[in-house]
Amino acid sequence: MAQPNWSNQTMWTGDNLPIMRGMNSESVDLIYLDPPFNSKADYAAPVGSMAAGAEFKDTWTLQDVDIAWLDLIQLKHPKLNRVIDAAMTDSDKSYLIYMAPRLLEMHRLLKPTGSIYLHCNQHASHYLKLLMDAVFGRGNFLNEIVWNYGTPSGGRTGGQKPVKVHDVLLVYAVDYGKHLYVRQYTPYSTEYVKKWFRHEDEQGRAYQTRSRGGVIIRQYLDESPGMPLSTVWSDIMQLSSRRGWFPTTEREETGYPTQKPLSLLQRIIKASSNEGDMVLDPFAGCATACVAANDLNRQWAGIDVSPVAFDLVRRRIEAVGGLFYDIVNRKDVPKREDLGKVPPYNAPENKTRLYGEQGGECAGCDVLFPIRNMTIDHIIGRKQGGTDHIDNLQLLCGACNAVKGDRGMEYLIARLRE
Ligand SMILES: C[S@@+](CC[C@H](N)C(=O)[O-])C[C@H]1O[C@@H](n2cnc3c(N)ncnc32)[C@H](O)[C@@H]1O
Ligand SMILES: [Zn+2]
Repeated sequence: MAQPNWSNQTMWTGDNLPIMRGMNSESVDLIYLDPPFNSKADYAAPVGSMAAGAEFKDTWTLQDVDIAWLDLIQLKHPKLNRVIDAAMTDSDKSYLIYMAPRLLEMHRLLKPTGSIYLHCNQHASHYLKLLMDAVFGRGNFLNEIVWNYGTPSGGRTGGQKPVKVHDVLLVYAVDYGKHLYVRQYTPYSTEYVKKWFRHEDEQGRAYQTRSRGGVIIRQYLDESPGMPLSTVWSDIMQLSSRRGWFPTTEREETGYPTQKPLSLLQRIIKASSNEGDMVLDPFAGCATACVAANDLNRQWAGIDVSPVAFDLVRRRIEAVGGLFYDIVNRKDVPKREDLGKVPPYNAPENKTRLYGEQGGECAGCDVLFPIRNMTIDHIIGRKQGGTDHIDNLQLLCGACNAVKGDRGMEYLIARLRE
């Protein structure tokens, strides 16, 4: 398994796609992502809050995404393409085209023992489930978690429909059975204790009786771990609903729109990683997952297009520390170090192999050319994090190569369609 080609406590500022492309395969233990949901809302942090200046757009049109991505997905990932085709509106479609290549990278980055929690809601969860099935495989679906973050009260209750009080977490393993799961427990409810731990021994300790292999044993309440964690989480409240009602530290309340509670992330991290493991949040926001990972002695990396994320993670972590934390802010696309000895991209053996694989056709215009008229080209441009590995190479005819230049393949495909 590869080592990460970045240091612990790194927050990248930039688009997560090229950055993830430059990260080593199988170098991450746990990914939590809370992407934009296609909610048709634009979020902005209140001016004056710790997160002021952060905003992101959550409405999608086909102009927003490189539509030519679709051609690449059609070519290399027919299952994903079927899912994207099933989208009902252009807006859903563009959202899925945006998510698909990012999920493919996340799958590549995870170790075989790793898992991924995709945080979403009713706007896109059903489409994302299909996308995740296509990328991770249905057999690796662990569960859908319902995060019930509040009660149907207050401002939520106005609509002509049942009141929404939950988000969804889609949880997948890379390889079901090999994945890590550390059992978690929640405290028993008073009713449960009253109903089941009915007996008391001579010292006044509550217990229930159980049959183990035909023998009746006592299970003491004070020795019981609690309720095994289920798929419905109702004990963690949404931050905005806590505001003004419960005392919270400034560290918890950054004012970042869509901020998630630390306790939610702590639970996920405890259930699916060990101390020292690497946790990645590619849509870090105000870096809740990174802060929680740091608290729990995990390594972490975060990525967000908003530069506010770096400032927030540093301030949030330093607020509790008093220690010196060496948090790195990077804006570059990392260079993969896990590809072994890769021959130079223009090595003759690459050319011969690609010519055979492409059956002599140019990968752009599909016309047959003799090998001497073909040039080796990077499918994903090097500036976008593409590597010199043969998987990222193709042969183009002179004309196609001239049009494409050092841009991504999507540019050439778009131009060929004109
Ligand atoms: C729903 S918020 C995440 C909130 C986060 N879980 C927290 O607790 O603060 C989604 C984040 O994704 C970021 N984002 C959107 N597109 C991105 C991209 N292509 N690359 C990196 N970050 C992106 C936005 O700036 C926003 O901060
Ligand atoms: Zn061509």
